[in-house]
Amino acid sequence: MKEVPSGIDLFEEIARLKRDRNAVILAHYYQEPDIQDVADYIGDSLGLSQEAAKTPADVIVFAGVHFMAETAKILNPSKKVVLPDLEAGCSLADGCPADLFGALKARHPDHFVISYINCTAAVKALSDVICTSSNAEKIVRSVPASRPILFAPDRNLGAYLVKKTGREMLLWQGTCVVHETFSERRIVELKVEHPDAKLIAHPECEEAVLRHADFIGSTTGLLQFAIKNDATKLIVATEAGILHQMRKACPGKTFIPAPPTSSCSCNECPFMKRHTLEKLYLAMRDLAPEVTLPEELRLGALAPIERMLELS
Ligand code: 13P
Ligand code: SF4
Repeated sequence: MKEVPSGIDLFEEIARLKRDRNAVILAHYYQEPDIQDVADYIGDSLGLSQEAAKTPADVIVFAGVHFMAETAKILNPSKKVVLPDLEAGCSLADGCPADLFGALKARHPDHFVISYINCTAAVKALSDVICTSSNAEKIVRSVPASRPILFAPDRNLGAYLVKKTGREMLLWQGTCVVHETFSERRIVELKVEHPDAKLIAHPECEEAVLRHADFIGSTTGLLQFAIKNDATKLIVATEAGILHQMRKACPGKTFIPAPPTSSCSCNECPFMKRHTLEKLYLAMRDLAPEVTLPEELRLGALAPIERMLELS
């Protein structure tokens, strides 16, 4: 395993490498606080894709999970995209293998295929359009009423969209290992304990949790709600990493992370948290591990991503 030389100041070294390599650090809100603090841009999946699409940098250092870095590479074939830990996957992407998804699609040839961005490039290439949690409703509504829809891979986001839009959809039965652990019973107990608190939740949570929410949105949506809403106390049902930006933006407010079923730290994404400041430094120093993909696959996945960016 590669080691960081002793005695170096990681923050200074990362800043120097950023200049020397003309690199940009894109980070998701679920990253550890130190990584968020060195990032040039922090955002949700849509914001990160939009930022990746327009960056003038030569190197994109992606502090997020693999499908996010892969999307950045699909949009930037000539740039180097590095991911500090290549094993940073996602249970939704892992739970939807392209061969099985292709077989389901083949059984429903008349269906319009919408895939949540949390999937592999191979699944994207089988899709008509991609969506994220912040534009999913708009994307579903853009599909002509006459077309049946196949939605993958998150069944909770899918069920939320069916309820919101009234459109029936055939759903792939995938889930997020983090969001499915929130306990309805413990959230209701927290609401009773803090009657003045508002519950805000990510649509990857189960319906049993979402039905108690005062606001449902993407990570950026949740952060914006926390900033703009009058509530001074909020229960947050998403990965706990987002609390760092919420606390920075609203020092006078109280944020309570929603409790999982047991006393585990399952409200932390084990994939997002594979990255550390040390691995980020090494990735910038060595320009590795790099995210690459075959050109034919890239072009197949690019078309539905571009359709999403046009619609967003
Ligand atoms: P957002 O696009 O809302 O940031 O969601 C990404 C994700 O992986 C949530 O678990
Ligand atoms: Fe995937 Fe869930 Fe982690 Fe988001 S929080 S990256 S959906 S496993």
